[in-house]
Amino acid sequence: MSPCDRSTSRRRFLQFLAASPLFAYGGVASHAAEGPKAATKLPDPIPWAPLNTQDLIASPKDAINVFDFEPVARQNVPPAHFGYMASGIDDEVTLRANREGFLKFQLRPRRLNDVSKVDTSIELFGARWDTPVVIAPTGGNRAYHPEGDIAVAKAARVGNHLQILATVASTSVEDATSARGAPIWFQLYASPSWDVAKALVKRAEDAGCPVIVVTVDRMAGRNQETFFRLRRTDARECSNCHEPGLQGSVRSKPNYDGIDLSGLSNLQSANMTWEFMKRLRDVTRMKIVIKGILAHEDATLCVENGIDGLIVSNHGGRGEDSGRSTIDALPEIVQAVGGRIPVLVDGGFRRGTDIAKAIAIGAGAVCVGRPYLWGLGAFGQPGVERVLEILRTEFRVAMQQCGVRTVKELTPAFVRRAT
Ligand SMILES: Cc1cc2nc3c(=O)[nH]c(=O)nc-3n(C[C@H](O)[C@H](O)[C@H](O)COP(=O)(O)O)c2cc1C
Repeated sequence: MSPCDRSTSRRRFLQFLAASPLFAYGGVASHAAEGPKAATKLPDPIPWAPLNTQDLIASPKDAINVFDFEPVARQNVPPAHFGYMASGIDDEVTLRANREGFLKFQLRPRRLNDVSKVDTSIELFGARWDTPVVIAPTGGNRAYHPEGDIAVAKAARVGNHLQILATVASTSVEDATSARGAPIWFQLYASPSWDVAKALVKRAEDAGCPVIVVTVDRMAGRNQETFFRLRRTDARECSNCHEPGLQGSVRSKPNYDGIDLSGLSNLQSANMTWEFMKRLRDVTRMKIVIKGILAHEDATLCVENGIDGLIVSNHGGRGEDSGRSTIDALPEIVQAVGGRIPVLVDGGFRRGTDIAKAIAIGAGAVCVGRPYLWGLGAFGQPGVERVLEILRTEFRVAMQQCGVRTVKELTPAFVRRAT
């Protein structure tokens, strides 16, 4: 073939790609109006019926997968709020990596095991849950639906999911616990002030939380480009609801009610060290779980510092744009921990097979963030219920197809790194 022929055929190939639905669609579910940016859906091998983000489902029961809720939420939720939820950081490499990371792992199904009955339940700190799918903490859920975290808690109750409530939730830990109808875990943004952290911890303990989840991966400011760009398109006056300054910003966050924040200029804990964990241990009976671990050295330090559990998390690609997915980080952390404390993981979990891969690698449970927010923004509580139901169903199917009857049977033999 002459160089000229080669360049013609290359041009034709690129033209073909450009015309292909796979290319136009970018292989990702996306935001209806803005086109594909944040990778949420992995490449679809069948070009005949790709998800068209203009075709909105009319009710939760019409959803085929969790991605079906995202464009409906995009339509219902104001652009600034939707942008806040969808956004990653900078180039959003980590956001995309969280999804693409699952391609690096493959399941190894086994056959001829009786899987007519499957038990998807798990145990964490002595409590049993029907499913390993946990509600990750997300702040300010009234931005997506007026019932916010209450709708989420009620949906979690229907499917018996463990819920982790954010410090900056738009519902108090007491109200969320009562809507959930069972103890929930409380996520702590410690702030730079020990007194503020201690007051939040006391409040969570008094509300009956058995576990405090300390988030350690939000130390600095962040460039949430998708959020900032979509906010520019939002014609509403932000200051009608968002009061300026720290005191103003916490007025809609009831977990801070009665806590003295004077003297603070932000709520991040850039000054946090392992010393904080020692102090925390001295003031609470709750189990301590650290959220945001990404390196085996820190996982080992968790164990050495008497931490009860950890969550492998990059904050859903909202912290730093490291480029590394959490599923990629999971094996080294599981290995370092060696079964001494439970390891949970979050970031990009959208499919039952994603969950099965993480469990097989050694995770004790998997937390989800954005999918239930899509359900919330799309249809309120019934939307959250259906998102969770889809994840449970897909995970059950993944277990059956792998040939396992219990979550414990899903061992490393069922997963391999793709070569
Ligand atoms: C809108 C939004 C708000 C969040 N707020 C918090 C928070 O207040 N505290 C926290 O520890 N993590 C927060 N996270 C991170 C989640 O707990 C979780 O780590 C992440 O969403 C998992 O990734 P996924 O969204 O791809 O499932 C938030 C995530 C989103 C999307």
